[in-house]
Amino acid sequence: MSSPTSTPHKGKILIRGGRVVDPRQGIDRVADLLIEDGKIKSIGANGSSAAGAEIIDAAGKVVAPGFVDVHVHLREPGGEGKETIATGTRAAAAGGITSVVSMPNTSPPMDNVSDIQFVIGRAAQLGSVRVYPTGTISKAREGQELSEIGAMVRVGCVAITDDGNGVQNSQLLRRALEYTKTFDIPVMEHCEDAALFGSGVMNEGSLATRLGLKGIPRQAEYIMAARDIALAELTGGRLHLTHMSTKESIDLVRQAKKRGVRVSADVTPHHLVLTEDAVAEYMTNAKVNPPLRTKADVDALREGLRDGTIDCVATDHAPHTQNEKAQEFNFAPFGLIGLETALPLLVTELVRPGLIPLSDLIKRFSDAPARIFKLPGGSLETGAHADVVIFDLEAKQTFTHFLSKSQNSPFLGWQMYGVVERTLVGGNTAYARAASSTPADRH
Ligand code: DOR
Repeated sequence: MSSPTSTPHKGKILIRGGRVVDPRQGIDRVADLLIEDGKIKSIGANGSSAAGAEIIDAAGKVVAPGFVDVHVHLREPGGEGKETIATGTRAAAAGGITSVVSMPNTSPPMDNVSDIQFVIGRAAQLGSVRVYPTGTISKAREGQELSEIGAMVRVGCVAITDDGNGVQNSQLLRRALEYTKTFDIPVMEHCEDAALFGSGVMNEGSLATRLGLKGIPRQAEYIMAARDIALAELTGGRLHLTHMSTKESIDLVRQAKKRGVRVSADVTPHHLVLTEDAVAEYMTNAKVNPPLRTKADVDALREGLRDGTIDCVATDHAPHTQNEKAQEFNFAPFGLIGLETALPLLVTELVRPGLIPLSDLIKRFSDAPARIFKLPGGSLETGAHADVVIFDLEAKQTFTHFLSKSQNSPFLGWQMYGVVERTLVGGNTAYARAASSTPADRH
């Protein structure tokens, strides 16, 4: 069996008359995009023709490089009740995402060559989009001993992370940063001081006190961000800080970049949009790690994204079953799904209100993550894989169901602009919105 990712499309496709936005090439204009044998052939004047080409009418729509999501939990192996490579990549395609970087906190955790090969093999068979696996920093994610990093990299591991946990042992992180210099891959850190985090379940502050819930102090994140930056500075290694949630972390990254430290960062759509108020009704679908913070943090994250301190947007798509999330707040697992809502949320909350230009959003969700993780996507340059998203900025839809196996989203029932019409991977259609699916209203 083959997937859209393993066999490129044969023949020509002309995507006609869309607003083609490709930040890497500085393009934002109405044009025609020609694809041939699964690769980008050219961006031509609107109204061009190509003999024998399949025509996709994109008038009034945006045509952009497929999104690259560097933080996705596909849960396979061991968590197939929550998500699989097949269901997770189908959800990604529906969100316009054509490449995902998968997290290694599976059961068992991905700390060796055969685990990495398993994900690559499954994705080639069953994936709707490209999957790039990460391996753990430490064996069994126990934070004691380095995993077989070199061997994993040789078979296709694109970064290392103990995501779900921060690396508590500074010496281990130092060695990981030093060792990975040989391969020039990022060490992706989930910044969390475990002792400070304790048994907290939401942001520490007066709301947590009122709700009778144990708080997670913001210092649990930014103390570790500061330490990690110090170690990146010491070693010259490449550090990527994932799912940043506090204004202090953003300041630390901003200062570090000014000093020339090799640090990059990502932020999730939910941290850019929601505050801790989302858990006020004990809504477990908004229980996430790091926790949703305050308005001041949201503002700082938005400013960080705007000024480039934060390099990219990543979803931290973290599926959990209905039963798990139906438990009382203290016991429900951390995490929410994000593949299908990332674009609509950011279009609705940031782009349409004029907080960031559309081309910047596309840069932060395709070009920048592809560069940082050295992945092939992120641009519509001639000769690149034809990984393309076509979406409608003016249409809106209400999310009542997701293609993901899990439904743990705080955005169920939200009406949002930015409807994905079609997603191509290597020229193959990985997702096409059915005419009969939830009606998308246009203004
Ligand atoms: O909310 C989260 N869920 N944060 C993490 O870091 C891990 C993730 C998961 O695996 O469920």
